[in-house]
Amino acid sequence: MRKIRIMTMIVAMTLCISALAGCRKKPSAVAQNDEIALSGDTKVLVVYFSWSGNLQKMSHWIAEETGGDIIRVLASDPYPEDYDETADRAKKEKDEGIRPAITIDLTAEEIAKYDTIFLGFPVWWYDLPMPMWTFLESVDLEGKTVIPFFSHEGSSTGASSLDTIKRLAEGADVKTDDALSIRGGKVAGSEETVRNWVRDLGYGK
Ligand SMILES: Cc1cc2nc3c(=O)[nH]c(=O)nc-3n(C[C@H](O)[C@H](O)[C@H](O)COP(=O)(O)O)c2cc1C
Repeated sequence: MRKIRIMTMIVAMTLCISALAGCRKKPSAVAQNDEIALSGDTKVLVVYFSWSGNLQKMSHWIAEETGGDIIRVLASDPYPEDYDETADRAKKEKDEGIRPAITIDLTAEEIAKYDTIFLGFPVWWYDLPMPMWTFLESVDLEGKTVIPFFSHEGSSTGASSLDTIKRLAEGADVKTDDALSIRGGKVAGSEETVRNWVRDLGYGK
């Protein structure tokens, strides 16, 4: 009887610990990188960064609508789950001009497969999140068309982010006038808006 009670306690404790660990994790869809082959078939690539999932949603709608490939920029040292901790780290990176290491490293051959890059990001501290600086400085986008899309909680024009893209994507035709801006809280209900934007730009399948 004592053995059974001890066993029950061990099972209960294990379940508690797993449940607690699960609570602190982001949903796997947000935590994982997208594992999609870079075929280059449609010459369209969607590159995005997302911390809490809004840009992930927008990016997948765009990739579906264009038939293009998709790749997610992730910091090699992941941002914390906690908002304040992430905000603090992002502020320090921005203030100090830190380029965090990222998990993707596109070769010149891979980039050469694409004519158009849809570039998605949340506005962070009135600018592009620093991992996107790392990305843009790691690739040569000369001659490509770059179409920005972003989400925000008030910086509806993207604040400094569009100018930063123009500066970093040297030699690219950055379509700032066509950029799509959606407030974070509205993203979940904006699938049609996003898909129509893609079609209106002439990139629908
Ligand atoms: C670190 C951090 C900084 C942010 N800075 C801004 C900002 O300067 N202006 C703004 O409008 N929203 C800001 N936001 C809000 C995000 O842009 C917005 O919530 C966006 O929808 C998040 O996209 P995601 O879910 O793909 O991460 C910030 C959010 C975080 C986490």
